[in-house]
Amino acid sequence: MSIDVKNISYTYMAKTPFECQALDQVSVTINKGEFVAIIGHTGSGKSTLAEHLNGLLHPTTGAVYVDGIDVNGKGADAKKARHQVGMVFQYPEHQLFAETVYEDIAFGPRNSGKDPDTVDAAVRSAMEFVNLDFATFAQRSPFALSGGQMRRVAIAGVVAMEPDYLIMDEPSAGLDPRSRNMIFAQLMTIFKKRKMAVILITHSMEEAALYADRLLVMSGGKLCIDGKTSDVFINDEKTLEKLAVDVPESFKLAEELQQQGLPLKGAILTEAQLVKAIAKAKGWSGC
Ligand SMILES: Nc1ncnc2c1ncn2[C@@H]1O[C@H](COP(=O)(O)OP(=O)(O)OP(=O)(O)O)[C@@H](O)[C@H]1O
Ligand SMILES: [Mg+2]
Repeated sequence: MSIDVKNISYTYMAKTPFECQALDQVSVTINKGEFVAIIGHTGSGKSTLAEHLNGLLHPTTGAVYVDGIDVNGKGADAKKARHQVGMVFQYPEHQLFAETVYEDIAFGPRNSGKDPDTVDAAVRSAMEFVNLDFATFAQRSPFALSGGQMRRVAIAGVVAMEPDYLIMDEPSAGLDPRSRNMIFAQLMTIFKKRKMAVILITHSMEEAALYADRLLVMSGGKLCIDGKTSDVFINDEKTLEKLAVDVPESFKLAEELQQQGLPLKGAILTEAQLVKAIAKAKGWSGC
């Protein structure tokens, strides 16, 4: 079970003076059960690639298959395949549309033919997932919410569909640290329980290091690096620099400490790994 991207290219506003090639012969396979982060400088094509995965954009050349079905095909199978891929957009206000938060979140489950009780249960559980109090928010207009609350409604609407593949385009933008940590903690729980695939687009190298097993690095519409997260940060640091992509702060700090003579061992990409390595090097116990 996988999303297979076969050699896709995409040009916005083709044959106009504003023509812009946003994807250039991208091929990649993302399997169910993987947590993948897509990183890359601004304008590198991350969102454009994401919008191809559920058939929202049609490739200029190439094709995208979900569980073997062409998402741009016609018919019930292609529609079902597109529904397997849930997407939280970079700008959540782009995906909210209903008069109330309840109706917005209920739309997906209702549209896929679920009975009213199941829809109601899905809405309540999705609101709990994103920590939006039902009594306070269910009947409010999604457009009268703060940016962070809107984002949480958008995430709830997608989670309520129980997709096999979940794409989140910069989900933490506009969220305070507490909401961000809570949403990622919940996400990891459903990711493990449902064995879905999560595709996280982020500018935060900390988030990428903490959650993703695999990194896809985009630049100029091309997929430049595809590898295990720790391998990419550790072995491709120079290439990342050329592509204007940062590495996690803990990794940089560990390098500095090593240069100062502290013998830190192992792959250090996260704060927890850094603290553990320093404690070990210093012979501190209890960490
Ligand atoms: N609707 C559009 N019309 C025309 N060009 C677009 C459109 N959307 C994106 N582009 C262009 O396509 C290229 C890729 O954009 P894309 O939004 O996919 O990048 P991104 O990696 O998601 O960037 P960011 O990190 O800023 O979100 C950029 O050059 C951008 O200017
Ligand atoms: Mg983007």
